Amino acid sequence: MKSKSPLDRWIELERLFGAEFLPAGRGPQAPAGPARASPAKPPPRTESAKPLQRPAVPAAEELPAEFVAFRDQVLQCRKCDLCNTRTQVVFGVGSLKAPLMFIGEAPGADEDAAGEPFVGRAGQLLTRSLLKLGVRREQVYIANVLKCRPPGNRTPQPNEIVSCMPYLLLQIKWIQPRLLCGLGNIAVQALLHTSEGISRLRGKYHDFFGRKLFATFHPAYVLRNMNQLALFEADLRKVAADAGLIGIP
Ligand code: URA
Repeated sequence: MKSKSPLDRWIELERLFGAEFLPAGRGPQAPAGPARASPAKPPPRTESAKPLQRPAVPAAEELPAEFVAFRDQVLQCRKCDLCNTRTQVVFGVGSLKAPLMFIGEAPGADEDAAGEPFVGRAGQLLTRSLLKLGVRREQVYIANVLKCRPPGNRTPQPNEIVSCMPYLLLQIKWIQPRLLCGLGNIAVQALLHTSEGISRLRGKYHDFFGRKLFATFHPAYVLRNMNQLALFEADLRKVAADAGLIGIP
């Protein structure tokens, strides 16, 4: 019999301890077969057939009802005190088929207002740097360790990280990204349970519940230290290439 992944075992434990948002029964399944489906064959060309125009932005993905139920439960979360100060829960955004998932620290003021992660100045830097590689936000998934903004953007507290972590683990289980990319010291340290600094951790892969987690700088740090932009963008290029989002130069 196939043994359970560390992530599955963790989720099973969460369920035992009463996490109601976990899907009953089998839960979300990993896609069968190869990680990415091969593209459908184009229809046979006829004399009058015009080449199909691909829309610049793909049509919104239909979300499975079970995923929507999970998201709706997270949007109402009251597990820690951040629920009293947030404007709204910032669940995460992107494709459920994304091969790459970015994980930041926590929403800031702009994200708390918009309900979407990485939309403020730091987020715009991340979006721009990805676009330089030809990668759109819709092609990846973007989430945070914490789903609610800590007041004044203070550092997340251990009890908040513990309360929120099951949500992130479930997002990973649903999306099954080929790779994870932790953004910045706080997020990477929380994910890896380490006090090692980001300058030592960045540019490398680490184990996160049996999955590969690449570490890089937080874009807010890059905004304050623009001399690190080249390194940050080289990191993004590597992880995007490894995830199969871009060709290897
Ligand atoms: N910083 C983060 O870590 N996450 C966001 O969503 C925005 C800023």
